[in-house]
Amino acid sequence: MRPIDLRSDTVTQPSKEMRAAMASAEVGDDVLERDPTLARLEARVAELLGMEAALWVPSGCMGNLIALMLHLKRGDRFLAPAQAHVLGAELGTGAWLAGGMPEALAWEGGPGRPTPAQVTRAAGSPGPYYTLTTTLLCLENTHNFAGGAVTPLDEHRALVAAAKGVGLRVHLDGARIWHAAAALGLPPGALTEGVDTVQVCLSKGLGAPMGSLFCGSAPTVIEARRLRKMLGGGVRQGGVMGAAGLVALDHLPRLPEDHAKARRLAEGLRAFGVAAPIPETNILLIPVPDAGGAAAALETAGVRPSVVGSALRFIPHRDLELADIEEALRRAEPLAHLLRSA
Ligand SMILES: Cc1ncc(COP(=O)(O)O)c(C=O)c1O
Repeated sequence: MRPIDLRSDTVTQPSKEMRAAMASAEVGDDVLERDPTLARLEARVAELLGMEAALWVPSGCMGNLIALMLHLKRGDRFLAPAQAHVLGAELGTGAWLAGGMPEALAWEGGPGRPTPAQVTRAAGSPGPYYTLTTTLLCLENTHNFAGGAVTPLDEHRALVAAAKGVGLRVHLDGARIWHAAAALGLPPGALTEGVDTVQVCLSKGLGAPMGSLFCGSAPTVIEARRLRKMLGGGVRQGGVMGAAGLVALDHLPRLPEDHAKARRLAEGLRAFGVAAPIPETNILLIPVPDAGGAAAALETAGVRPSVVGSALRFIPHRDLELADIEEALRRAEPLAHLLRSA
């Protein structure tokens, strides 16, 4: 039985078209001068996001780390929504490599997001010399561990305004900004309004085997290129990956199909008596009494979720059709009792 892999939107295989584009990519040495295909990709993403400049980096973690290293110095504090990827899923590099003390803000504004008042309060006013200085707000849209939760535009604006009002810089972890934009029916550039830097991923839902873009002002991106090299992320004929990235961007208009698949999965599970939330985007997160046990049982039945804390996470993606979701529901039905809350 072919397993239906719903662990992540990163498990996709490069399409034939993507592989062909990679094989025929025009390339140069991106460490020495610029790789022409990476340069094209960077220009296209900067324009899409309404940012001045962009830099290809191998991963989302590196994009976020470069941002934190640029914005923070030792003795600084940065704020981020609770369970943000930069807080819990990047091995603490924001603290030990970028030197910032992280502070998690509870989701008082809705799933995955704090309120502007929390930002103002948490930033505080300058204390004695031995206290931390809060310098950065790090947002995440969509918020992965809040189940792909979207921060709407008005709330994004209010959070940025609150941060700026107390002198903070703003970095946006936009690994899935595409999904937020698709859910809101907005161009992705609308959701970067006011931010100093943003990182976006091409490997999540869009099908690229690797690659993210760090974006900011032109001088910031020049500095980011030095940090990328420092971190071992300078690549040579990167256009092979750049070509994959350009093809990945062509998939943007189809992201709503993945959102529809996630919704169908949630609705199907609800029909079996599972208290599945209706996902806003492509991530369905279901708290269950025994996540490890339920995941193992589903795996045996040919459905692969991932375990996120005490929840199961299902992420439909471009390599699965709606028919695969129906089949996953058929396979999961006999195990639905394992997905019901205690
Ligand atoms: C919100 C978010 N930010 C950053 C990352 C890191 O991306 P990468 O795995 O490419 O390092 C991820 C990965 O899943 C993510 O979900």
